[in-house]
Amino acid sequence: MKVHIKSFGCQMNKLDTNLVCSALKSAGHEITDDISFADVVLLNTCSVREHAEQRVMSHLGNLKNIRQKSKPEMIVVVFGCMAQRIPDELLKHPAVDVVCGPGQIPQIPQLISMAAKTRRPAISVAEDIRSRPADVQIQNLDDFEYENDAAAPALPRQAFVRIMHGCNKFCTYCIVPYVRGPEISRPPETIIRQIKKIASGGVRQITLLGQTVNSYKYTAGDKTYNLADLLAMASEIEGIEWIRFVTGHPNNFGDEIFKAMANLPKVCRYLHIPAQSGSDKILKAMNRGYTRSEYIGLVERARSIVPDIAIAGDLIVGFSGETEKDYFETVELVEQVRYKNCFVFKYSPRPGTRADEKLADDVPDEVKKQRNIHLLEVQKQISQQDNRRFIGQTVKVMVEGTSGKAHLNKAGQDPLPQMIGRTAGDYIVVFNGESCLAGEFVNVKIEKTSALTLFGRMV
Ligand code: SAH
Ligand code: SF4
Ligand code: F3S
Repeated sequence: MKVHIKSFGCQMNKLDTNLVCSALKSAGHEITDDISFADVVLLNTCSVREHAEQRVMSHLGNLKNIRQKSKPEMIVVVFGCMAQRIPDELLKHPAVDVVCGPGQIPQIPQLISMAAKTRRPAISVAEDIRSRPADVQIQNLDDFEYENDAAAPALPRQAFVRIMHGCNKFCTYCIVPYVRGPEISRPPETIIRQIKKIASGGVRQITLLGQTVNSYKYTAGDKTYNLADLLAMASEIEGIEWIRFVTGHPNNFGDEIFKAMANLPKVCRYLHIPAQSGSDKILKAMNRGYTRSEYIGLVERARSIVPDIAIAGDLIVGFSGETEKDYFETVELVEQVRYKNCFVFKYSPRPGTRADEKLADDVPDEVKKQRNIHLLEVQKQISQQDNRRFIGQTVKVMVEGTSGKAHLNKAGQDPLPQMIGRTAGDYIVVFNGESCLAGEFVNVKIEKTSALTLFGRMV
């Protein structure tokens, strides 16, 4: 069958999409980018904000129309976090045939053949998402991950490798612990074996993934492995040139991770550590487990061990009870940290979370919107100023592909296309070059900068 698949969520979600694609190809199906050719459509869903769920619902509305008008036989599969959160509601939707939770993805090829054969709805989700799955199920997921190709098709020679599932932090606003289940670290032996396999297939950059990647902990025999151990082990693998990890949680960041960054040349000097807020009152209400000054202390510690480290963050504006004063403490935090970039989100209450049950969503949407725009503007000024230091420098870039943005393509008279890539610090670099450079490392001398991009010439 011809299969079309679309991801709506984070990197963890995209990794699952890649794995499912690979499994479906092994099962004899063909992947198509064009939905009008598809016999099967899969949506990998996200529940983190209401908007993410709305996008899925509107997509399902379109699929319902397509089915009614022209393709009654088309099979629609909804999987991922939203499938775990509201499985019954989704299964009742007239466009949906199969619902599958994020922990059940190895079953997807089977669920599709069942639905095709019986024309009856099929469902597989965890009943009690917070209880640890049976060992055999954990093993199944681990095997699925190892056997399938985690390489990102749109990013040549890059791959994501999950080192842990789930989350135990229970930030009061967040749905992830309720849809991804408890924290379970994968055995270091499998992770390393998997990276070796990926490297021998040509991958040069790996990103270790986890919701709180620095909580990684696995005991085998008399040794307990942490993230720094994994970074050291992955560094020894021939072929791998750059290693990243996301996302870090500000708590329990021992110096060993920063020392690994400083001492292991393959470990990228890039840290994504969401602060979420700069107000101690709000941080407490969010159950983040640190204060503003502890967060700043962490940033200072990271910079003292790894002087050229690039730090990115996430911030939520308009959380329950956030006053103007609280918000300006967040602005101050951003000004003090001087992030490389940060992602800003408007608080979106999620059903079933503690914030939704116990705290009023009392910041008007208009205020959330204004704070969102303002905070991004504050960060933009910082990025614009700080990026200027790159002018005249030559940076090493891993090339991703041709730049999709038309306005970038207009720059200069060079006959070669504009290519886009990233530095080890995750800075986006645009330059003119052959399109066959995708997946290669090149050196680019920076000539011009903006808040989000460095522009230069290949040397
Ligand atoms: N595990 C990661 C990422 C979790 S989700 C971490 O802890 O950092 C990604 C980001 O979405 C979070 O960092 C947070 O900024 C944002 N987010 C999560 N829940 C949200 C909600 N209910 N409303 C708005 N933003 C939210
Ligand atoms: Fe959500 Fe907090 Fe876990 Fe991140 S650490 S996934 S924000 S509960
Ligand atoms: Fe990721 Fe969204 Fe799930 S952020 S873990 S896909 S809720």
